[in-house]
Amino acid sequence: PQINYVDHSGTCTPIMVPLGDSVMEGAVANGVEGIVAECGGSAMCATCHVYVDPTFSALLPEMGEVEDTMLDLAASERHDNSRLSCQIRVTEALDGLVVRMPESQI
Ligand code: FES
Repeated sequence: PQINYVDHSGTCTPIMVPLGDSVMEGAVANGVEGIVAECGGSAMCATCHVYVDPTFSALLPEMGEVEDTMLDLAASERHDNSRLSCQIRVTEALDGLVVRMPESQI
């Protein structure tokens, strides 16, 4: 499925991410800047914070408590559509997903 990573300046990088990989892994494996992922995907760092396009909100996995807590500690402001990209597994339904990266992750 294709995931569209939009950086803070508005530049979009579309990447084909394998099913089952996380949105964070798709970015890191392809050198997409703007997702740092210091903890490697354990929901422990909040440096993979993204703003998910609201049209996809209903298709996302539910947010766990740890993710919820970590998002409060993210370097950039938390919004209603904030998620940790390491907690979003890519599914067929998420084909075309748009995630916007915050100004800063650290
Ligand atoms: Fe650390 Fe997502 S990679 S919280």
